[in-house]
Amino acid sequence: MSNVTISDSVLYIGVDDKTIDLFESQYVVPNGVSYNSYVILDEKIAIMDTVDARATDEWFANLEAALGDKKPSYLVVSHLEPDHAGNIQKTAEKYPEMQLVVNAKELAMLPQFFEIDNLKDRAVVVAEGDTLSLGSHTLQFFMAPMVHWPEVMVTYEQSEKILFSADGFGKFGALDADEDWACEARRYYMNIVGKYGAQVQTLLKKAATLDIQTICPLHGPILTENLDYYIGKYQVWSSYEAEDEGIVVVYASIHGNTGKAAKQLGEMLQNKGAKKVKVFDLSRSDMAEVIEDIYRYEKLVLACATYDGGMFPVMQDLLYHLKLKNFQNHKVGLVQNGSWGPVAGKQMAAQLETMKNIEIVGPMVTIKSTVKPETVSALEELADAMIQA
Ligand code: FEO
Repeated sequence: MSNVTISDSVLYIGVDDKTIDLFESQYVVPNGVSYNSYVILDEKIAIMDTVDARATDEWFANLEAALGDKKPSYLVVSHLEPDHAGNIQKTAEKYPEMQLVVNAKELAMLPQFFEIDNLKDRAVVVAEGDTLSLGSHTLQFFMAPMVHWPEVMVTYEQSEKILFSADGFGKFGALDADEDWACEARRYYMNIVGKYGAQVQTLLKKAATLDIQTICPLHGPILTENLDYYIGKYQVWSSYEAEDEGIVVVYASIHGNTGKAAKQLGEMLQNKGAKKVKVFDLSRSDMAEVIEDIYRYEKLVLACATYDGGMFPVMQDLLYHLKLKNFQNHKVGLVQNGSWGPVAGKQMAAQLETMKNIEIVGPMVTIKSTVKPETVSALEELADAMIQA
């Protein structure tokens, strides 16, 4: 277990997972991921969430070490996704006297995942603003629907001013990963919670009414200092406003010619004074990282080869992801390639039209197979338009 101190009575019992290949079977996590869980020691003891079934043995060992010879009174369930709820059944069986603190949606959804005997009798059902005293600690519950699932709630512990924020403020990476918070928290946010900006804004408004000194998320480090920084990032991310000035160029290239044009465009943008330019080969980049940077920077150029009368599939996949993640508020330039019937550009534009507040910038550049002098002038024209947009 990572050595994390929160306070004398609030103990970290989470587990780092450094062997998982793909989080949610889709996200690479080069530095692993942490499943956070906590115990609050008081007259009545509360366990704050469990962990993924991948980490059962280590978590129970941590829990037993924290409890000593005591027994828990409550298991507070923030979220039923299996990366946190994976051990609810086992915990309920191990401690038959323990009650489960859940909201009505969780109570309804729990039987879909588990068969817990006498669940209704063992459930303490809480609603918005309800409190539960443990002794000197008091838990207060706030519903956070769709941050990230409909049943999610967060818990504010009043005496120590701790917000147990569920997936909110979470980050990829094991707790001992030596890496920038924002980089992996942004990739986590955009890809996992990104669709639900409005719901995150609602939760931030509730959080603004609380005096929060510590944030204990379900993934990533416990946040104790400079909380305005983290909350500020969440404000920007959930508003779908660009975080930084810059242009992302993403290309889907079969034999390298579309890629060559995209890289040339990237150089032109740099030479023309773009503050930041990032060029991605979509076939060889982490999709989640590409999406993170697309959200982060205000402008985007998509360059795509035509393939089987449509887009080269990785570009289709990117646009599908962007649609899912509620992509909006961007200025977008388009480059297409086609040796006989170029249609990728038209198809990209059609998909972008279904998204909110997307402005197509400049003339679309069409490459016929390879970059020629006329392609270079067209790319220059697009680069100028992107800079001015
Ligand atoms: Fe970390 Fe939505 O579960």
